[in-house]
Amino acid sequence: MIINVKTSGGSYNITLKRNALNEVNKILDIKGKALIVTDSGVPGIYVEIVKNQIENSIVYTFPQGEKSKNFETYSALLKTLAENKFDRKDCVIAVGGGVTGDMAGFTAATYMRGIDFYNIPTTLLSQVDSSIGGKTAIDFAGYKNLVGAFYQPKAVIIDPDVLDTLTDRQFNNGLAEVIKMSATSDSDLFELLENNDAKDIIDVVIEKSLLIKKAVVEEDEKETGLRKVLNFGHTVGHAIESVTGLDTLYHGECVALGMMFMSTGKAKEQIKNLLSKNNLPIKFDFDCEKVFEVLRHDKKSVGDGVNVVVVDSVGSFRFEFMKYQKIENILKGEEI
Ligand SMILES: NC(=O)c1ccc[n+]([C@@H]2O[C@H](COP(=O)([O-])OP(=O)(O)OC[C@H]3O[C@@H](n4cnc5c(N)ncnc54)[C@H](O)[C@@H]3O)[C@@H](O)[C@H]2O)c1
Repeated sequence: MIINVKTSGGSYNITLKRNALNEVNKILDIKGKALIVTDSGVPGIYVEIVKNQIENSIVYTFPQGEKSKNFETYSALLKTLAENKFDRKDCVIAVGGGVTGDMAGFTAATYMRGIDFYNIPTTLLSQVDSSIGGKTAIDFAGYKNLVGAFYQPKAVIIDPDVLDTLTDRQFNNGLAEVIKMSATSDSDLFELLENNDAKDIIDVVIEKSLLIKKAVVEEDEKETGLRKVLNFGHTVGHAIESVTGLDTLYHGECVALGMMFMSTGKAKEQIKNLLSKNNLPIKFDFDCEKVFEVLRHDKKSVGDGVNVVVVDSVGSFRFEFMKYQKIENILKGEEI
């Protein structure tokens, strides 16, 4: 199926199709050179399949993991483009998870003030979330996604077949973002996940998640309003991610923990059960003081608090300006 996402500058198509990896040259019309960006953990066969379909392409592989989403990798990618004389007619193609997509996207956004960017996400998290919406970024000075740009891809190709090689932990990591989106915006999808094994219905899960995210980013491309809903679980989650060290907990696992602190009543119980069912963490022994410290330096801070998303009832949400003191009380288990 094709999902068209409208942006202020035009629109792009997401092709969601089994075996789509073998149809890249049919789906994309690439005339110039292509830099295929990937990481060392992405099965080489996927990269080979893509490369073999694009005549004038080179591959840059960086070491897998969040620790590579940094200035050094960015600089190496720019250097590769410059040394191979890429110009505005050429493009960058990401084949990998969210780290690869963010790295490749930010490089494409800034090289020569922007060259074409195509995304072929290969993790569940990147297929349902990070490949759509145009956010690109690298981590900097100890902060996640501190330096980045809104930059829309020209096309996204999603082949659910590539998920077969993901570890269960990585699969569940992506599912955390699906649970997040369904908890705030789609109680039917949430119920579907409660009543099924996600792997058995993964095509539907990807499609429904993409439709939620499409609706949100089309209404609020630059995160001035509604798009903030996607941050459910992220404010605390990002802080936990920073203090536990990169790659100790995965991004989705931190979001899972974050959601536990930002939901109430029956919804909290339902979210907890769904996370547990999918082997996602619902508690973790982190250093509270360090988490508070990072929270207070959150780039979204407004004075002595931050705007957060709270879910009281599955399928709905509210924004709340929450003082840091209240968040600290919640984290210590003294409130909500
Ligand atoms: N731009 C956005 O809107 C947005 C949204 C959410 C998350 N993110 C970012 O995404 C990143 C997390 O993405 P992720 O969870 O995909 O992590 P990731 O990109 O690190 O991928 C996880 C691991 O899976 C491996 N891998 C990738 N595809 C595989 C496959 N098909 N089979 C086997 N192994 C495979 C990778 O090599 C890596 O080791 C974070 O940096 C986060 O900040 C961005």
